[in-house]
Parts: sequence; C-alpha cells; structure tokens
Amino acid sequence: PTQERIADLLGRMTLEEKVGQMLQLDARGGELEELIVNKHVGSILHTSPKDLPRAVDMVNTQTRLHIPLVIGDDCIHGYSFWPGATIFPEQLGMAVSWDPEKVEALGRVTAKEVSATGVHWTFSPVLCIGRDTRWGRVGETFGEDPMLIGELASAMVRGYQGGAKAGEELPKDAILACAKHFAGYSETQGGRDASEADLSHRKLESWFLPPFERVAKEGCATFMLGYEAIDGVPVTFNSWLLSDKLRGEWDYRGTLITDWDNVGRAVWEQHIKPDYVHAAADAVKAGNDLVMTTPQFYEGAIEAVHRGLLDEGLIDAAVERILALKFRLGLFEDPRLPDAQRIQQEIGTAEHQEVNLQVARESVTLLKNDGALPFQRKDAKRIAVVGPLADDAQGQLGDWAGNSGQVNWMPDGHPRHMITTVLDAFRSLVDESTEVVYSRGANIVDLVPDPEGETFPDGQPRPKIGVSAQVDQKLIDKAVDNAKRSDLVVAVVGDVVQTIGETCSTATLELLGGQNALLEALAHVAETTGRPLVVVLMSSKPMVLPACVIGANGVIVDESKANGTSALLWAPSPGMKGGQAIAEIILGITNPSGRLPITFPRHAGQLPVYYNQIRGQHGNRYADLTQDPAFAFGEGLSYSKFSYSEPLITNEGTGEQGNFREGDVVHAEITLSNESDIAGTEVVQLYIGDMVTSYSWTDRELKAFKRVSLEPGESKTVEFDIPVAQCTIVNARAERIVEPGEFELLIGHSSRRDDLHRTTFMVV
Ligand code: IFM
Repeated sequence: PTQERIADLLGRMTLEEKVGQMLQLDARGGELEELIVNKHVGSILHTSPKDLPRAVDMVNTQTRLHIPLVIGDDCIHGYSFWPGATIFPEQLGMAVSWDPEKVEALGRVTAKEVSATGVHWTFSPVLCIGRDTRWGRVGETFGEDPMLIGELASAMVRGYQGGAKAGEELPKDAILACAKHFAGYSETQGGRDASEADLSHRKLESWFLPPFERVAKEGCATFMLGYEAIDGVPVTFNSWLLSDKLRGEWDYRGTLITDWDNVGRAVWEQHIKPDYVHAAADAVKAGNDLVMTTPQFYEGAIEAVHRGLLDEGLIDAAVERILALKFRLGLFEDPRLPDAQRIQQEIGTAEHQEVNLQVARESVTLLKNDGALPFQRKDAKRIAVVGPLADDAQGQLGDWAGNSGQVNWMPDGHPRHMITTVLDAFRSLVDESTEVVYSRGANIVDLVPDPEGETFPDGQPRPKIGVSAQVDQKLIDKAVDNAKRSDLVVAVVGDVVQTIGETCSTATLELLGGQNALLEALAHVAETTGRPLVVVLMSSKPMVLPACVIGANGVIVDESKANGTSALLWAPSPGMKGGQAIAEIILGITNPSGRLPITFPRHAGQLPVYYNQIRGQHGNRYADLTQDPAFAFGEGLSYSKFSYSEPLITNEGTGEQGNFREGDVVHAEITLSNESDIAGTEVVQLYIGDMVTSYSWTDRELKAFKRVSLEPGESKTVEFDIPVAQCTIVNARAERIVEPGEFELLIGHSSRRDDLHRTTFMVV
C-alpha cells in the first residue's frame, strides 16, 4: 500500500513540487513561507524549536498536497541545540569506551529526547576515519580504525532507529540516522577542512568504505555525502560511488543527502560546473535525493528538465525515495510534532543523566601513572584544581553543543546545573576536611571579531574567532601559589570550540595560549615538593604534549624541562558528566577502562601516526624524530593488573588445529587474569597480520575486541571467532581477496607489538 500511495502522490505532483521535495533548506533565516509555500521544500534543518509547529501548520494549510516535512538537525552527541538536552561525550570520547552497548544506549537516549521535540532525523553518526589530527573534525569521528568505527557506528544506528532495519517503520521514539560523510572526507590534505583529498579506489576499498558498508547492512536510513572528490569527481557528482557502489553493489535502498551546499559550491567555489542548471542536472543524474542548502537547485533542476538536460524520471526516482522515508516515519498519519508532555518527561531526565555518567566514566583514558593514582584522599588537606577547562561548563561539552554562539535561541548554552565540571566534582566528592582551591592558570584563546565581518550573508551574527592567548604570568603565579600549598594538583588543559570543528583545522597540535607555560611551572612545583601533578587533557582530539607531561618528546630532549607529571588522563570533550567521571577516576572511585581509538603523535610533523599504515621501506624513519607515537592505538591503563595467557587457536568447524580454508572460522582463546586486588575492565584486542602479501599492506589490523570485567584474582577465558574470509587484503584492482599463506593472530592489550601475544596459522 505504501508503494501505491507513493505512486499516487507522484502522479499528482507538478515538476516544481517534485523538485521542491528534493530540497532541504536552512530555516534559521526565518523565511519559512518562502521555503515551504513558494519553493515546496521537502525538508528543513537547523530550525528554531519555536518555528517547528508553525512550519508544519504551513504545510497543512498553505500547500496543495500537504506532504509532510522531514526535519533534520545535527544531534551528534545529544541534541546539541535543545537547552537542557542530555549532552554526551563527543563521538571520539564515546569511542574511547570501545563499548558498543553503551553507544547503542546513548543513541537510544538521544532518539527519545530528539523525537519528543519534533525533529525526525539526526545527521549522525560520523564514519570518517580520524587519521590526520590537524583536521578540526577528528573529535566527531570514532577514531582511526575501520573495524572499530563500523562496530560503534552500527550500535549508534540501532540506538537512534530503535532497531528498525532497512525499510521498516520507525518507532515513535526513534529518529532517522545518517551515515556521513560518504566517503573519504577525512583524507583531506594537510588536515585542512574540505580541501582536496587524494583517494584511489584501492584506498577507499581498503579503509574508507568498509564502515559504511557495515551500517548500510544495519539499515541506516540515510547517507550524507562528503565535500571531496574521487579521481577529480566530487562525491556529489560521483556516479561510481553513489550508483555503482552504494546503490548497485551494496543494494542500498535508503535516501541520500548532500552536505552543505555541495551542489552550489561546485559552481561558485570549485568551478567544476558552469552554472546551477548543469550542477543540478548532474547531481540528480549521479543519484542524489535531497540537496542541502542550495536554494538555486530549485530553478536549476526545473530549467534542466525544460532544456532536456535532465530526465524527469530521475527526479521521480529521487522523490520516491524521499517519500518512502516520510512513510517510514509515518508522517502522513502523524507529523510527529513537538510533544510538550514528552519534552517535559523525557528530556534531560535523571535516568538519561545516569546513562551519560556511565558513558563518561568509560570515555576517559588513563595514559600515564607513576603510582600517584588512585589518589588517597583521606590524608589530603588541600587539593588544587587548576587550568582553563577545570571549571568551563560549556567548554567541556565540546563542539556541536550549542555553545559556539551560532544559534540565537540558546545564547547561554545548556543549563549550568546539569553540568558537572572537574572543580564541581572535587568539591562534592572530598570530605569537608579537604579544601579544594581553584585557579584558572591560563587562557587558551582571545576572542576577536571575525575578519570576514560581523554577520553571515543571511544576517545572522557571526561568532568571534579565537586566536592563541598571551601568556598571563599573574594567572600562572596564582596557580603556582595554590599548587605549592596543596597535596595534589589537578591541571585541566585542552582546546576550545573556536579551534575545533568544521572549517576549524589547526596547523599545530600544541596546547594554545598560556597552557604549556602553566604546565611547566606546575611540573617544577611537583618536582620540588614531590607532590603529584595530574594532568587532564580535555581536548577534542589528540594533542602534542610538552616534555614536562610525557617526558622526552623524541625531538630535542631539553633536560632543563622537568618531567614532573605523575599522571595523565585524556577526556575528549566529555559532555555534561565529564567532570564527575574524571574526578572519580583520580580519586579511585572509578577504575579507568577507556582505551585509545586513535594514536597520539609526539609532534605534528610525525603525522600520519595511525597504527595500521602500509609497510614501507627504510623503516619509515625520520632523521630528527622517532616514528614511535606518544601513545598508540588501543593503549590505556587500569588500576588493576591484567595478565594474558598465550593464544590457542582451533578450527571452529572441525575443532582441530592445522590448516584453514577460506570458508573456515578461526576460533581463538586466551585466559585473562586480574592479578590485582581491584576489580577492573580490560579491552581485549585481536589483530590479524598477513605475513606475505602480493600487494603492499599493513602489518596488522584489528579484527575483534571484547570488554572483559574481572573481580580481584579472577580469571576468564576470552574467545573469538574470526572467519578466514575476513583475513583479506585489497589487490591492485581494488578487490578484497584472501591470499593463502601464513597469518599472525595477535591478542593483547593494545596495538603495540610489545603488548600482543602471538600465534600463527596457515590458510591453504
Ligand atoms: O551535518 C553537517 C555536516 O556534518 C557538515 N556540514 C553541515 C551539515 C549540516 O549542519
């Protein structure tokens, strides 16, 4: 019946109405009438919550066919633009958990909150691969490994869509997911956002496409295209990617949307299309359904049909997929309007905050610990909490959290009482006999007017931009004074929204402003007093840390700089409950279990540093710099001490050891023991290496992982089943193949060879 209703509607729509359906426009400018009544738009995004009911009403009263709008927004780690919604750690923080169950749970919470507000569709998850950490959007990714990304993204899609598979109707408290940015956007040159990427088909098949294929199978309702080009053809116009690969080979039946003005930019920025008529025609021909924020698409596509440049049948096919999406939401029967009662009962509830806290606890990695942690708070008279992010409630939420001044309906960000900063948490967790003193210590950026002007072309105010702040000696002196009088110093440093996110890549990865000077001064205090300095890096992405935090940085060892830091934690934009999670870990209330989903370089010049690089020659070395990263993919410490037995492998089918064939499954097991008297969680990681490959390939790749919790003294058998069909490489024709020969199976604590236990097997 749905197909009949779609066919009936299509038959009654004018060309103008059909082209309008393909448009998704930004309703922030407030010209709703122009969009809905005159341009017949099928979708709006970034709409002020107060405008939504008006928009829906307009469709019902002022349009001919009353086709409901599908309403989208960037609800990336919670509903960013709804004051009081639950804001989780950013996606890279979620990835630190290596916990698909938690990611699914937070996706469910987000869907419940967002669906109550009348928004139907989130532009999330991001499946880009975070390899060049200068790129501003690394914090929006699940890190650097395609397998980990695929697992976590699938979990998030299940959470958002309430488990609805391809084509199925979504429950009322679910929202459409959007896998983005298809594909290879993150391979941007020099880390500069949306610069040209160098993507071969082989590279795409090897790394960038697999996570997308995984979520396509999971039934992810929509895909958003990236900004970059493949072999000179921007993905928006790339029929190979959209039609042959996605719709053809993968049989994907969902709906595609461009990114922001991809179609227009082809004309005014990239000069790859002569005008909007050709740009519109070619975008439809390549297989796009919805076109985001290119208003000229409307006149362009209509003109293209009239001039015979575009077959109207292709527009029909796109509109059919857009209508199908609206039927999946049941919008024709129920437009899913903002629901005052649900908003009241479901947004930011105590239960959702509890899920947030559980996620936050797993989103922190302990990277260094000389034994100072967990800190024994019983005897502490004074704790100094210092640093520009120690008490920056809105800053702690990171990007896409309504705190960058870009939305005029929430100028003050999220309610302060919902956010626990590190300072708040220390004050609430220690006894009255312990004083907690605070000093800011340093500024990160100074805000200056954007040289581009005070407003955007649509009249919206343009937020100020941040430039690295001057070192403020008075702030440092005050922090040093507090540190000298304290039993523990916790310094919270990192980045701010002005230096991360879309269009905000950085050439350097060092801490900005006065932060390094602050850390050096605090490290000096720690060395002279012998009292511990704990550094918390609250940054959206890996940063380059000074020698006083990580020791010799592998470039120039300056012995005069003290290595006075006892412990280092990384909390990537940890969300509303981040401060609580961090303080609990420092005080030993929570045992850390986060692991790195991305490698930390020692120097920006080392990039790329991801673990699964192709084997090269001459040892890939620099003359002036080690290639060893500061912290490797998979690393992360616990207060427990785990030990691994050597791995045993058998053939899952025959139960025998010996040779494997392509259809077989490798069954691997190890015994994991907790040798300490603290209960804890280890993330057991399994990597496969193909010893000799006919084409250059990586040394090892993550194929499976498991979070395993152990009581003190407990041991568990941890088992994995790895199909031989997954032990592939990609050949010169960009085909995935299994090459017979010897393979390594490595199980252990991180991607570092020293952390892995090895065995081998033969594929014949
Ligand atoms: O969803 C985003 C995308 O990730 C980047 N460009 C803008 C889109 C809509 O806000």
